Amino acid sequence: MTPPTGGERPRVLTGIRPTGSLHLGHYGGALENWLKLQHEYECFFLIADYQVSDYADKIDEVRGWVMEVATDWLSVGLDPEISHFAIESLIPEHAELTTWLSWWVPMGRLQRNPTLKAEMDDLGESVPVAFFTYPVMQVANILMPRAHLVPVGEDQLPHIEMTREVARRFNKLFGEGEEIFPVPKGLVGRVPRLVGIDGPDAKMSKSKNNAIWLKDDAETVTKKVKSMYTDPTRLRATDPGHVEGNPVFMYHDAFNPDEDEVNDLKERYRLGTVGDVEVKEKLAAALNTMMDPWRERRAHFEAHPELVREALAKGTAHYRSVAQETMVDVRRALKLNYLD
Ligand code: TRP
Repeated sequence: MTPPTGGERPRVLTGIRPTGSLHLGHYGGALENWLKLQHEYECFFLIADYQVSDYADKIDEVRGWVMEVATDWLSVGLDPEISHFAIESLIPEHAELTTWLSWWVPMGRLQRNPTLKAEMDDLGESVPVAFFTYPVMQVANILMPRAHLVPVGEDQLPHIEMTREVARRFNKLFGEGEEIFPVPKGLVGRVPRLVGIDGPDAKMSKSKNNAIWLKDDAETVTKKVKSMYTDPTRLRATDPGHVEGNPVFMYHDAFNPDEDEVNDLKERYRLGTVGDVEVKEKLAAALNTMMDPWRERRAHFEAHPELVREALAKGTAHYRSVAQETMVDVRRALKLNYLD
């Protein structure tokens, strides 16, 4: 069996479903890590279109979102020259591996998966079979390039745990003493859970309409920050305010690199010697400083959509060749050579 990396860089696989543009929650929870990892690891970034639950109703939108997600990746600085951007369904080996792996995932294991449970509650009455089993496809995604590390949002950790179990089980059942799949580790970002601009109770998300998008221009970001939920108990700038649980300060902690400024604002907020306006202005300025280089890159890729397409085409082709190598080993391990 070929070793996973043959002395090359260890591998990262991670993915995102193409269900919309990406926001600051994606950045702090995942993308920021991806940016760092792409220099140490060989990275496979997957757009998981097989796993869009309402694909049938949204084909045209999903087509657009595939390009938007790739554009978001390029804008923050992911580099298709050193990493592989790929579209899941154009690598149908995923479907084959998922079919096999499904036999070694107990039903109860999926029923107990907390992330899946929560998502199914949101879906309500009619849960498609493929939704129930999507974590198995995610396992197949991770095992396909034989990834060692999976940088994800916190909610994805139950799926990584399952991947580790399946990898161990597969190796034990079919490896004949060899490791067919490395047992991968999850890696959660610096900001595991970013609240929305509308208050501390909900995560930033598309459905809640409480997001700052990576593609928002400076004016939009400033406007959104001005409208942010702060401390509801504070009526005047001279009232002592609450820093803990205050989304504006959570964002300062997450994204303002000037610690002295943040500490000074917190101190004055607690004393009632700074107004919400100043705290928000400084947050908007910090966010816009972080986002300006993204905007510049985005303008370039929006003017040259063929570059986005090329990045996906090149990455997908490479990913597919890696997937085919893996499947040779999987088929051999499963003794599918009936007719040889
Ligand atoms: N399920 C992940 C999400 O909803 C997306 C995803 C698909 C993924 N395949 C993956 C993440 C493989 C990590 C590894 O965000």
